[in-house]
Amino acid sequence: MRVKRGLILGVFSAKGGVGKTTTVANLGAALAQKLKDRVIIVETNMTASNLGLHLGILDPPVVIQDVVFGRIKVTEAISTTDYGLHVIPGSVAFMAELGSMDLSGILEELRKKYDVIILDSAPGFGLEVFAGMKACDELLICCQPRVPAIAGTLQTFRAADRLKIPVFGVVLSRVTGKRFEIPLSDIKRTLDWPTMAVIPEDDMVPESVTRGIPVVLHAPNSPAAVEYRKLAQAVLVHMRACKRIAPRRKLKARKRIAPRRKFAKVGIGELR
Ligand SMILES: Nc1ncnc2c1ncn2[C@@H]1O[C@H](COP(=O)(O)OP(=O)(O)OP(=O)(O)O)[C@@H](O)[C@H]1O
Ligand SMILES: [Mg+2]
Repeated sequence: MRVKRGLILGVFSAKGGVGKTTTVANLGAALAQKLKDRVIIVETNMTASNLGLHLGILDPPVVIQDVVFGRIKVTEAISTTDYGLHVIPGSVAFMAELGSMDLSGILEELRKKYDVIILDSAPGFGLEVFAGMKACDELLICCQPRVPAIAGTLQTFRAADRLKIPVFGVVLSRVTGKRFEIPLSDIKRTLDWPTMAVIPEDDMVPESVTRGIPVVLHAPNSPAAVEYRKLAQAVLVHMRACKRIAPRRKLKARKRIAPRRKFAKVGIGELR
């Protein structure tokens, strides 16, 4: 039986600048190509929100901070795009001290409307990060193949373990292949967790951010876009396996039309 609650998938990493927001925008856009209007990405980086910018939303009329401060309902904070991706952006001008917040309660309402709700998180381990992580069913941990990022990734694994939030896998991002990077085989061995995608450093990514269109739509054949689509495919397969979305419809087997028998003169023995 299908589970009728959307999956809350969080993209986390303690290290900043490793590609979390880019991953959220592109995974969301790639999934929306398959699950039109049933995918939402949500800003949970309250203090330095920039998810909306990746979709060209510069000055949203309503933002996640309005929801957190109880001014509006979560469903009133949704912005839409013409490519089927919904988003709850944050305010780029937010400047206030954060108190504790119940993101789990806030986001619950979205499960009814969406198959997948992807959270973009802040780096570090402030209040907003723990609140976001507690709201998740599963995590994708973003990592760059550099020493500080790997240290941050291990910290994020420990936090997930402490909160008992399952990790779906690791996304290696901004991979250049330069000799100072930690070899991917070493990272895979160290983290000992499934690597869901290896996203190369690709100039089309910052270009797409400047244009305000996710790279999977802006430059669909660029190396980063190709890898983000593979990541989306892995998430879709996972969602089908957990019965969050309907299985791929099997094509009805075409009725085989038996070839006309040629009645030849056969003996009884040959008919058996
Ligand atoms: N694959 C890529 N190729 C080239 N540039 C990239 C790639 N991924 C991300 N970037 C660039 O790296 C910078 C940081 O990316 P992003 O904002 O996604 O990281 P983040 O982990 O969300 O950062 P923060 O922790 O500050 O929220 C951005 O300028 C983005 O355009
Ligand atoms: Mg970010």
